[in-house]
Amino acid sequence: MKKDIRSREDIYLLVKSFYVKLMQDDLIGHFFEDFSNSELLEEHLQTLVNFWDNVLFYSGGYRKNAMEPHLKLHQSKPFRSEYFSRWLSTFNSTVDDLFEGEMAHTAKTRALSIATVMKIKISNLK
Ligand code: HEM
Repeated sequence: MKKDIRSREDIYLLVKSFYVKLMQDDLIGHFFEDFSNSELLEEHLQTLVNFWDNVLFYSGGYRKNAMEPHLKLHQSKPFRSEYFSRWLSTFNSTVDDLFEGEMAHTAKTRALSIATVMKIKISNLK
């Protein structure tokens, strides 16, 4: 039986495993090229741990606007709908590989709703 997501250590394992997959992805891997630098990757993973700790456990440890870097990114590397589908299916399969339970479920539903808002904001830019 797998455990549920309970701690920052669990979240770290989740985002690290997720990024290993994203960086190898044939469709969206090119977005994450900078993170082949392990220092940049570790720094980014800490940001993601703060983000998900806030989303799942309301830690208050992430106070930036997560939409902003994506809107900026979209200007140089336009996002497509299928990129979001791939991001989400990769996120969901990473969660399912490692965890099960209420928080694991919540992580997947929150990812879907945030991605949906992001997609709407980005498509409104055009
Ligand atoms: C097609 C989908 C996506 C792609 C290609 C993508 C790509 C990226 C990239 C390249 C960065 C680094 C940007 C930078 O440092 O300038 C980033 C940051 C981030 N992404 Fe995404 N992303 C996607 C969707 C999402 C979704 C759906 C979420 C949330 C559920 C998310 C959460 C974050 C967060 C929290 C950061 C850190 C922002 C910060 O620095 O405060 N991303 N993303």
